[in-house]
Amino acid sequence: MNPRLLELQPYPFEKLAALLSGVTPAGKSAISWSIGEPKHAAPDFIASVIAREIGGLSSYPLTVGEPDLRTAIGDWLVGRFKLPAESIDKDKHILPCNGSREALFAFAQAVVSEKSDKEDALVLMPNPFYQIYEGAALLAGAQPYFLNINAQTLMPDFDSVPEDIWKRCQLLFICTPGNPTGAVIGAEQMKKLIALADQFDFVIASDECYSELYFDEQRPPVGLLQACAEMGRNDFARCIVFHSLSKRSNLPGMRSGFVAGDAAIITNFKLYRTYHGCAMSPPFQRASAAAWRDEKHVAANRELYRVKFKAVLDILQPAMRMSAPQGAFYLWPETTIGGKVVSDKEFAQQLFAQENITVVPGSYLSRDAHGSNPGVNRVRIALVAPFDVCVDGAKRLAKFAGG
Ligand SMILES: Cc1ncc(COP(=O)(O)O)c(C=O)c1O
Repeated sequence: MNPRLLELQPYPFEKLAALLSGVTPAGKSAISWSIGEPKHAAPDFIASVIAREIGGLSSYPLTVGEPDLRTAIGDWLVGRFKLPAESIDKDKHILPCNGSREALFAFAQAVVSEKSDKEDALVLMPNPFYQIYEGAALLAGAQPYFLNINAQTLMPDFDSVPEDIWKRCQLLFICTPGNPTGAVIGAEQMKKLIALADQFDFVIASDECYSELYFDEQRPPVGLLQACAEMGRNDFARCIVFHSLSKRSNLPGMRSGFVAGDAAIITNFKLYRTYHGCAMSPPFQRASAAAWRDEKHVAANRELYRVKFKAVLDILQPAMRMSAPQGAFYLWPETTIGGKVVSDKEFAQQLFAQENITVVPGSYLSRDAHGSNPGVNRVRIALVAPFDVCVDGAKRLAKFAGG
């Protein structure tokens, strides 16, 4: 077997299952706030497009996807991120993928060079993080280098990264809005990172799968390609973004997303993906094109989250320390009971035992790095359940945390 498999950590949900096994939950209704699986309804038209296009199952799809899907994605990118229309060539800058997860993983395999003249290739990533970044780096033969988030800004402290680390960096993962923090990376910070990528010759992979879940309609999160365009870098050199219909359109089971950016990187990634064998099923390609062309359901989805987050934060903020996220669908509170800090694992276990509510201990989403672990004494709450369930859960959690 590939010895690198031994370096992979169990997934956070496996750790959570072990933590809660043997604990008998209180006889109250179960509330799952652990898995970030969207639960709002998918747009109605998706099922009818899939039914109409089911005949597409008789043909092998191409890795590059159908031209109409790439056109829909290109138009969406240009409109959403205010890109010059001529900067996006659907045949050069875009590849569909089966959800952003597989693409994030595969991307590191395609980009990282073990025979680099840079010794010990590094893949930089936020800490806490989406665990796929770490596994992708390890299986690609690189070492993960963790960028601890600052407890106040909830943002990785990019400025503190030493020059010798940037020199060894081959790939930087960023996530905006962030999982688990909901923090959004601003345009100025992105531009600084792009300048560093140019200076030290590394690739930026911007995981923007939560980009359409934000709370201020006037201020949608900026994207990496948008930051490039604002710098006049319309070739998007060294920059690739990852998008998904899972959260935007509540279609996690359709496994549909795309990658876009630097044409030379996309060409090589296409080669990798041809061998990997990950073309998207034709009926799903056509349903995806319809989803990227419709913004009405996306705005309605945001409104559901906006109302839900307001109600839940009104209940929880007096009882626990947490900031309102700028995007995504998570809360990242400090773990206190009666004003006293308890460990995140203890908090999750007790909350399950006393209230039958599951949340993820923050330390299952982070690593010890540079003398600390930014996930310790935090939990991640995924507010994906319906409004009434979340409000009920918030009342129970506020009482629990009140001690
Ligand atoms: C930060 C982040 N990136 C990527 C993904 C993968 O999403 P999908 O593969 O459904 O697009 C997730 C899923 O939860 C996530 O939280």
